[in-house]
Amino acid sequence: MSGSSAGSAGRRVIVLGGTSEIALACVRELQSREPREVALLGRDREALGLAGEKLRAQGVGRVIELELDALDTQRHEEVIGRAFEELGGGEIVILAVGMLGERGGLPSDVAAAVELLQVNVVGAGSLLMHAARRLREGGGGALVVLSSVAAERPRRANAVYGASKAALDSLAQGLGDDLQGTGVRVLVVRPGFVRTRMTSGLAPAPLATTPEAVAEVVRGGLESGAHTVWAPRALRLPMLFMRMLPRPIFRRIKQ
Ligand SMILES: NC(=O)c1ccc[n+]([C@@H]2O[C@H](COP(=O)([O-])OP(=O)(O)OC[C@H]3O[C@@H](n4cnc5c(N)ncnc54)[C@H](OP(=O)(O)O)[C@@H]3O)[C@@H](O)[C@H]2O)c1
Repeated sequence: MSGSSAGSAGRRVIVLGGTSEIALACVRELQSREPREVALLGRDREALGLAGEKLRAQGVGRVIELELDALDTQRHEEVIGRAFEELGGGEIVILAVGMLGERGGLPSDVAAAVELLQVNVVGAGSLLMHAARRLREGGGGALVVLSSVAAERPRRANAVYGASKAALDSLAQGLGDDLQGTGVRVLVVRPGFVRTRMTSGLAPAPLATTPEAVAEVVRGGLESGAHTVWAPRALRLPMLFMRMLPRPIFRRIKQ
């Protein structure tokens, strides 16, 4: 597949973080356009099975489920390889693995914060690199990376999560540039506050959105060939403004 034809047209979709509400909404959105075959990879067999059943009920012809733990980086190459082999290839990979962790700046539970960094940076980074290699070996495709607006400028209230997303976002951008011309496209997705189980119990931020709305933005990004999209799109300008705020003002933002 050539880079220019990658778009949203790929039939085989591989989801890393196969129980993610945002990623599953992306699969449904893609399926609504044309039939797909899907591999869901995740650490919770039962939850993956339920997600797979729902997708089948919604018309996805073939769904396979494979175990994947972001922390077990030694197995990433093998598991991603199996996903490509069992599906017979892969045109779109969605990287959705991530955790939000404790709110606030300096964590009270440093061990939990370190685990978050291991999942969101080391684990997700390893998955990103292995998936990119497999796509390139297969002749191309699209790699959708769920970053966050938090990556643009981590606030004091989400210092650890923001730093983890900034690292993943940077890696995705750098690799996306390196992969130009190989047929592999990296689409960095920066959602704001999305109402999923990850944010349940938190007060919605301005411009809060839904997994379905993020999925529409992702499909639009795949079709337009964008390298970065914001969800909702209206967040792009406020985030540019946030990035330019002087530190003494920025640090007054408590939430
Ligand atoms: N919701 C938001 O407001 C928001 C905003 C911006 C960006 N994002 C990003 O979007 C992505 C998806 O989030 P979501 O809202 O869809 O939340 P979600 O439903 O909680 O999805 C998170 C996914 O990460 C997986 N995961 C966590 N730790 C893992 C590990 N060690 N190994 C394998 N998988 C692991 C979860 O699997 P389990 O089911 O096993 O826990 C789940 O599939 C995340 O990267 C998140 O950072 C979310």
